[in-house]
Amino acid sequence: MGFPTIRPRRLRASAELRALVRETPLAPTDFVYPMFFSAALTEPAPISTMPGIFQYPVSHAGEQAKRVKERGVPAVILFGLPAKKDATGEIGLDPDGPVPRAVREMKAAVPDLLVMTDVCVDEYTEHGHCGILGKRVDGTVDVDNDATLEVLAKMAVVHAKAGADVVAPSDMMDGRVGALRRALDGEGFTGTPILSYAVKYASAFYGPFREAADCAPQFGDRAGYQMDPGNAREALREAALDEAEGADMLMVKPALAYLDVIRTVRNASNLPLGAYNVSGEYAMLHAAAERGMLSLERAMLETLTSIRRAGADFILTYHALAAAELLGG
Ligand code: PBG
Repeated sequence: MGFPTIRPRRLRASAELRALVRETPLAPTDFVYPMFFSAALTEPAPISTMPGIFQYPVSHAGEQAKRVKERGVPAVILFGLPAKKDATGEIGLDPDGPVPRAVREMKAAVPDLLVMTDVCVDEYTEHGHCGILGKRVDGTVDVDNDATLEVLAKMAVVHAKAGADVVAPSDMMDGRVGALRRALDGEGFTGTPILSYAVKYASAFYGPFREAADCAPQFGDRAGYQMDPGNAREALREAALDEAEGADMLMVKPALAYLDVIRTVRNASNLPLGAYNVSGEYAMLHAAAERGMLSLERAMLETLTSIRRAGADFILTYHALAAAELLGG
């Protein structure tokens, strides 16, 4: 049987019918809102490459928590800008640093807001790399995987002690999920889930973030630890390793240029899967919309729907509050 008996357009005739048969709904509860907290600021500072996104003083964390909650967005993920940086990122272990303080203030203001923290040293190192520098046997400089694990594990514990609901390692060191799990369990945080940035590519789309979090590498690039954009089988390997080490949730990052990878990981793992709609993806839509090239609202919702349709259960996105408002949150 085919046309003229079969007419797919029948189900597209009204908004009500379209909503009824929509396969991939989008809701404010699908979003995690990334936020930047600074130890140095006293007023919010706009991030020039990310319209509508600010670095906030830690003292604003409570009111920001309320703003997110009022929009119906259930979760945030926090990044920190410390007053000073060092060579190892150990300054990021200060329990009174911007992230632990923001966690405490947000949880005090809105106890049922889910507060996640990014666990990585790049925000805290002078050189901007996601690990401690060391030397290979041939004398060349490299990020020392195993030395970095110790700092990361300690940082996760500092965040958990401050009250973080979920810790999210974004460094791409080998073995870090296991290292975090052992450290958390050793301190009694057996109930703190790990959201692993399991599949994270070395991407040009992190450009604006490096201004936002002040973490551009001062030499070289991150290709020695982040994944090569040409690799999809390797995504399955990374996801399987993190699952075996005890990750509670996985993430693919970036999202838009990697929708196929989101689908591949979704089909291979039963863990909840997030996708990070990163800073460059956000900036791209805003830049096009500012020049009148497309509708920001429609492009935003279509983009977020595509990430969910590819298989992500939730999306870390700077569009979270604006999209939630459009969705009636
Ligand atoms: C590393 C980290 C980065 C992002 C999140 N965590 C930057 C990087 O790897 O260079 C990027 C997020 C974005 O671009 O929105 N701690």
